[in-house]
Amino acid sequence: MDTHDSKATQLTRAQAYELSEDVPTNRSTRPTIGDVINARLGRRDMMRGALAVSAMAAIGGAATMGTSRHAYAQAGSSFDFEELTAGVDADHHVASGYTANVLIRWGDPVVPGAPDFAPAAQTADAQEMQFGYNNDYLGYLPLPAGGNSADHGLLVVNHEYTNEELMFPGLGRQDRDAEFAGMTAELVGVEMAAHGLSVVEVTRDDSGNWTYNPASTYNRRISPRSTEITLSGPVAGNPRVQTSADPSGTTVIGTINNCAGGLTPWGTVLTAEENFHGYFKGEFPEDSPEFRNHERYGVPGGWYAWGDYEERFDVGREINEPNRFGWMVEVNPYDPNSTPIKRTAMGRAKHEGAGLVVNGDGHVVAYMGDDQRFDYIYKFVSNGTFDPSAGTDNGALLDDGTLYVARFNEDGTVDWLPLVFGQGPLTEANGFTSQADVLIETRIAADLLGATPMDRPEDIDVHPTNGRIYAMLTNNTRREANDLNAANPRPENAGGHIIEIVERDSDYTATQSDWSILVLAGDPGAPEVGAMWNDATTENGWFIAPDNCAIDGQGRLWVTTDGNDYERSGRTDGVWSMETDGDLRGTGKLFYRVPVGAEMCGPMFTPDDTSLFVAVQHPADGGDEWPGFGRTSVYEDPSTRWPDFDDTMPPRPSVVVITRDGGGPIASS
Ligand code: FEO
Ligand code: CA
Ligand code: CA
Repeated sequence: MDTHDSKATQLTRAQAYELSEDVPTNRSTRPTIGDVINARLGRRDMMRGALAVSAMAAIGGAATMGTSRHAYAQAGSSFDFEELTAGVDADHHVASGYTANVLIRWGDPVVPGAPDFAPAAQTADAQEMQFGYNNDYLGYLPLPAGGNSADHGLLVVNHEYTNEELMFPGLGRQDRDAEFAGMTAELVGVEMAAHGLSVVEVTRDDSGNWTYNPASTYNRRISPRSTEITLSGPVAGNPRVQTSADPSGTTVIGTINNCAGGLTPWGTVLTAEENFHGYFKGEFPEDSPEFRNHERYGVPGGWYAWGDYEERFDVGREINEPNRFGWMVEVNPYDPNSTPIKRTAMGRAKHEGAGLVVNGDGHVVAYMGDDQRFDYIYKFVSNGTFDPSAGTDNGALLDDGTLYVARFNEDGTVDWLPLVFGQGPLTEANGFTSQADVLIETRIAADLLGATPMDRPEDIDVHPTNGRIYAMLTNNTRREANDLNAANPRPENAGGHIIEIVERDSDYTATQSDWSILVLAGDPGAPEVGAMWNDATTENGWFIAPDNCAIDGQGRLWVTTDGNDYERSGRTDGVWSMETDGDLRGTGKLFYRVPVGAEMCGPMFTPDDTSLFVAVQHPADGGDEWPGFGRTSVYEDPSTRWPDFDDTMPPRPSVVVITRDGGGPIASS
């Protein structure tokens, strides 16, 4: 999510995020540029034939690698499709030979009995029965449970955040200095109801068309207005999560800013609470016991008016409420009456998502990014082991384990540093009295351990067998030349990069791993960018701002982006395939692109790779800078009315399903 900041007014959310303040972090050991160059030149996994050039490019300034970028020689490609042309317009586009259909849109009925979408007269109660806003993570879970069906399942969808100027008539871009003029209790209620998650039953018919069933009893909305969620793990019941509404500190109403997520091996979904700080307003004294904690997480962010109408989002009234957000939340979509669970042992962060795997010895491992400039990559290793016969009871594995944070060393190794109370600096001398304190203040504990500050860690996905993990680092324009490290080697990193971590002998529980950079994203034709791609990458195949990713059933990596625009790349966000092996390693190839202003989220394949679900988030958010779109994009005059192209309908964040014409696995011959 690229979002706005309380100080930023009249900006798109993406623009405002760039202006937002970084929170304090401990970056005490900063290598010199010379250290970084040496580390880069010493890396053993550099791309073939371009080692020195790439390393210099990585430092920012040298020309891009090779001269045959336009040769398009992609013999041996793992991906069999004809590349789409990058660009921008009001519509979405998919590679030739494929069809992309809208499956469900903001406002469509979800819960049986939901009213039809009435965009000019929305109510909170109606929205709470309808599909929410800004779909992000998508999880496909086959029906029946435990099966492998690729034509019948449940789709679990995160609704990350809301865009008032595109959702509501008459508001314009919100001016936070004017205290959210025009927002009302009802509109705040609509916004809250448009957050959370949706679960819908989906089916593919004999002719290959996907539909969702609005009458399904599986269908469910989870929202921060009403859904009770249990706190579990070491933080449950701790005084620091107790509030006037919940003196026991065990039950939270709702989940917010659910960005990406992950599937568990036992058929549930983990949904990630990301920018929770943005929902809090108010003030609290510097001598508050939560001052250090809230400051490190940027609380209160003041992005929304919720605190004016809901006391718990006013941090001056409920100092502990922010501690009840920022967790990984487990949802069982097969039981629409189940209570979601916040798994506190997995740490508190601006969680982007989670990539889960069962290790060879049965321990469950989850890799997670904390998406903020200069924050960290984590992994959680369960103490217990997966029991295939235990079903959803395996969820308790996520309450008991060790949380580690990554330190990327210049010699190409990663050390995973345990966040365990009483070990190393995580003691009373540094303000921790229990493991609960370590978990509530995960970031501060990681600072003290000397974790490597990253360029906004987003989605992380795990190859299920070969020990390889792919981490998306979306960008960090605040990184300065005196602040580089080997894993984040570019100053003013506007393009982002992708890191590959390799677990030796495919032991995902290991405390030391190896790493390399797969690509340094950005325009390979602009030397000042310092991009690093395989020479086979075409003019359409490069991108900036990798955000989400998926590994398909054939073990191939796909990347989606958040941040391509007119200024930075001259193309919209989209879905790119990404080679990870052989001579083409580091080659991108464009498969699908979104309408103007949108971001690409949620890539999720069916188990047989014949369908790809993607989430088109915030269509028409900005786009003003593109030739032909030169106006402020608001409800009355959006930069696109995708997907309906109906003058009575605003643009609508939507889930799209992509299939191959005539059937068959995507990008396969
Ligand atoms: Fe919600 Fe980090 O993107
Ligand atoms: Ca994003
Ligand atoms: Ca994201």
